[in-house]
Amino acid sequence: MRIVLLGLPGAGKGTQAARLAEVLGVPHVATGDMFREAMAAGTPVGLQVKAVVEAGAYVPDGLTIALVEERLRQPDCAPGFVLDGFPRTVGQAEALDRLLGRAAARLDRVLLLDVPEAVVLARLTGRRTCPACGATYHMASAPPGPGGACLRCGATVVQRADDREDVQRRRLETYRTLTEPLVPFYAAAGRLVRVSGEGAVDEVAARLRAAAVGA
Ligand code: AP5
Repeated sequence: MRIVLLGLPGAGKGTQAARLAEVLGVPHVATGDMFREAMAAGTPVGLQVKAVVEAGAYVPDGLTIALVEERLRQPDCAPGFVLDGFPRTVGQAEALDRLLGRAAARLDRVLLLDVPEAVVLARLTGRRTCPACGATYHMASAPPGPGGACLRCGATVVQRADDREDVQRRRLETYRTLTEPLVPFYAAAGRLVRVSGEGAVDEVAARLRAAAVGA
């Protein structure tokens, strides 16, 4: 299955996309993770995007589309994928349609994770991530171990640079301006399904699973 997960910053896309991909047996492709890995490794792409990402703006479409095209051409994506954080602009959505069209494929569903802004702000403020293995925590709902130790690898968790309060606001504005137009874009194509992202992680996961397979 080829699925896109849409939603505000902090809506829970990363948390849910990883689970959904596992259930469907397809890769979880997250552009935010790809950029953070490139930044941590100091690659040319990482150096190019660091300032943009940390300011809460979007990486230019050309660079982002090229990165995703390369990833989706890998053999493990042939049976499908769960895209998290891409597309994020109408230009990216059109590029994805062209790419899939060349392979005589199409998106099965675009799942919009619906979460009120007040809830996402609380989620972003409490989020901590592991700089070593990428695991995500929340200080209230999914805390790390004593002293902020990652439960998976033991490294000390940190706050993402773009989770600072001033940057959170900028990210929400960027989403409203550049990503929200994807809602009517995919609704017009008959591919959009709204799913409530409120409630416990397991409850949201069950709703998304049902929506993905059309139950
Ligand atoms: P990206 O990493 O994609 O950021 P985002 O879309 O802002 O999404 P987040 O990772 O902030 O949140 P999420 O929805 O994944 O929530 P999570 O599951 O972590 O992108 C980062 C940056 O990279 C962008 O700003 C941009 O600069 C650049 N970029 C990336 N893709 C790009 C593109 N296509 N084009 C251009 N630029 C691009 O959950 C959040 C918190 O809530 C966690 O602490 C979690 O534990 C908690 N939580 C989750 N679910 C629940 C629940 N049900 N109940 C309670 N807590 C929960």
